[in-house]
Amino acid sequence: MSYEALREQVLTALSKVVDPELRRDIVSAGMVKDVHIDGGFVKFTLELTTPACPLREYLVTAARQAVESLEWVEKVEVDVTARVPQQVRSKASMPLVKNIIAVGSGKGGVGKTTVAVNIAVALSQMGAKVGLLDGDIYGPNVPRMLGVQGQPKIVGGKLMPLSSWGIRVMSIGFFIDPDTPVIWRGPMLHKAVEQLLCEVEWGELDYLFVDLPPGTGDVQISLTQLIELAGAVIVTTPQDVALYDALKSVSMFEKTKTPILGIVENMSYFVCPNCGHRTEMFPRKSVEDECAKRKIRYLGSIPFSPELSVGSDIGKPIVVAEPHSQVAIALYEVAKQVAASVSITALSQS
Ligand SMILES: Nc1ncnc2c1ncn2[C@@H]1O[C@H](COP(=O)(O)OP(=O)(O)OP(=O)(O)O)[C@@H](O)[C@H]1O
Ligand SMILES: [Mg+2]
Repeated sequence: MSYEALREQVLTALSKVVDPELRRDIVSAGMVKDVHIDGGFVKFTLELTTPACPLREYLVTAARQAVESLEWVEKVEVDVTARVPQQVRSKASMPLVKNIIAVGSGKGGVGKTTVAVNIAVALSQMGAKVGLLDGDIYGPNVPRMLGVQGQPKIVGGKLMPLSSWGIRVMSIGFFIDPDTPVIWRGPMLHKAVEQLLCEVEWGELDYLFVDLPPGTGDVQISLTQLIELAGAVIVTTPQDVALYDALKSVSMFEKTKTPILGIVENMSYFVCPNCGHRTEMFPRKSVEDECAKRKIRYLGSIPFSPELSVGSDIGKPIVVAEPHSQVAIALYEVAKQVAASVSITALSQS
């Protein structure tokens, strides 16, 4: 058989492997690259749509088995890489930043900043290029939670983000005295958001997260006016009031045509550190049920964890301090779900 015929057989076998999230086979989705055949040895690259792909193991195994099932194949080697798709934007602003993701909620104190910081760091640990903009102008908590401080330099008229635990960070907190409250009105706020977002040399980024203040106020409006978001991640706690406010936030983003990437349920259960028993802290599944009803992706739940809170207080995110803890594992899962949701949303628009 000719080399081309063998290659064709490999591609036909691989085209039977379907990515259940993209609902496309891996060949037509352009994920199979560099097929190389040497006798009974086949090597190819599987290019995932994010280094944090939750289906990584499944896809690699399925692809390997598909090729192994060919009679003449003796050995298969799969290289795995990733290329995050770029969201489609009508305005050509910030071309090096592939996806801008807002992290919001209706209610205050539900854990937006904690979740934003940890998933940003988690995605960077998994190999993505990540930035985090502290969009909470009145209460910038990101510098403290990451343990990062300093005056960003200005190079070529642009602000250079600070670097922390592998991610690039910008916050109004780098410029103001932490003890002095910011008392600005809408237009000043808008200008501040614009400068912190658009006048920063972010460089190449797969994901730029924007940690929002609670509610549906000025910053949220400014943000959706200034740039097109790849989507919004909504954080809630399981209580009905929090969920009710989170759904208001969902409506606000929907009105501005921002895709909803999904909802994260924070502080929903507690795992006993002694016996490992899981205790639900509120009636189970109300958030998950609401997501199913509204066809919103449920991005996962994060336990109540004193260690997570302590990590935030000392400026060391739990995914750095205790990456093997239950709460860190839950955060990694959420991070993967967010990345998958971004890829699916971006690809469905292109
Ligand atoms: N899963 C969790 N377990 C325990 N404590 C948590 C958890 N998530 C967040 N916290 C704690 O709850 C408090 C509020 O969290 P955080 O600041 O992230 O909320 P927020 O939604 O960003 O608040 P704000 O609306 O003020 O911006 C912090 O002290 C944080 O450490
Ligand atoms: Mg916050």
